[in-house]
Amino acid sequence: MSKEIKNVEYGLEKIFEGAQDFLPLLGTDYVEFYVGNAKQAAHFYKTAFGFQSHAYAGLETGMTDRVSYVLKQDKIRLVLTTALKSSSPIGEHVKKHGDGVKVIALWVEDAKKSWEETTKRGAKSYQEPTTTSDENGEVVTAGIYTYGETVHMFVERKNYNGEFLPGYVKWDSEYNPTSIGLKFIDHMVGNVGWGEMNTWVKWYEDVMGFVNFLSFDDKQIHTEYSALMSKVMSNGNGRIKFPINEPAEGKKRSQIEEYLDFYEGPGAQHIAVATDDIIETVRQLKARGIEFLSAPPQAYYDEIPARLGVHMDMMKEDLKVLQSLAIMIDADEEGYLLQIFTKPVEDRPTLFFEIIQRMGARGFGAGNFKALFESIEREQEKRGTL
Ligand code: FE2
Repeated sequence: MSKEIKNVEYGLEKIFEGAQDFLPLLGTDYVEFYVGNAKQAAHFYKTAFGFQSHAYAGLETGMTDRVSYVLKQDKIRLVLTTALKSSSPIGEHVKKHGDGVKVIALWVEDAKKSWEETTKRGAKSYQEPTTTSDENGEVVTAGIYTYGETVHMFVERKNYNGEFLPGYVKWDSEYNPTSIGLKFIDHMVGNVGWGEMNTWVKWYEDVMGFVNFLSFDDKQIHTEYSALMSKVMSNGNGRIKFPINEPAEGKKRSQIEEYLDFYEGPGAQHIAVATDDIIETVRQLKARGIEFLSAPPQAYYDEIPARLGVHMDMMKEDLKVLQSLAIMIDADEEGYLLQIFTKPVEDRPTLFFEIIQRMGARGFGAGNFKALFESIEREQEKRGTL
């Protein structure tokens, strides 16, 4: 049995006793995207998702091969990076994968030890421990590869008071759209190739000391046409949760297979961000031009009271309002959750966002999988990729 603690800053925490917290991880530090045009991507995430200008590095700051814009909203930091020259590995990454997540950075007490412990357990090094400094102190970073070309950086910032990292300057902008209430990253999902899910589950167990605390097989996650399998990995304090998906055989093409075809390999599929008020967050996103997957059918909402049972009485939100915004609802023994999924946020049908409001529930919306995947299949149908 696991003992539990609650921490409002990171949602519902849980101590997983099977986990070995030799790192240990304090939270997500930042997520870095490699993109074709970081200036325009930054404008999109500010305007549409309510991120604030935070820090900048580029030619003006002595960076000669790339430009990076750092955006912030509550605890979430996004870094958008573009190569300045065609010879850059950043450009190669974008050429192959399109815009996508390169780095899922983890905030640690000791980056050198995190790198040593994980490489000792079989991780492939991306960057050896490196100390950088400026007038605000010093930061130690180190990195390892995870699935595909995706990287986990370990960031030790206990001796640093600057904006973001040495080399970055504060980014003051006169254009400051308001926040839409996104608070922290609840989980990030990786898509891996056929038959590779268990390899990566074992990798997160052996190399990172994570535990597998939820599993869904293709009998649970399927529609009439397609299927996938998923296992949810968590670190010891429950702050970092990485579900890992692989495609499964169905009558038609799984959404995971579509992702792998267009990303040209494994990669981050979606970033789930938490809000305390999903109705207001989704209204804002829609008003700012973000497109979501189509609403589940009427029958889905008709079944909600029966599906939620006792949690229906606790629900503060009006079901009609949730339905009008196409927000989905699920429950487990501990409470309910509200969630909705955007369409892909770039031209390739790859990365998308999930907006989630947890009202006690720790699950991932298993009760919504069928309705969700049917919505995705309607989009795949239009793309001719089902
Ligand atoms: Fe999710």
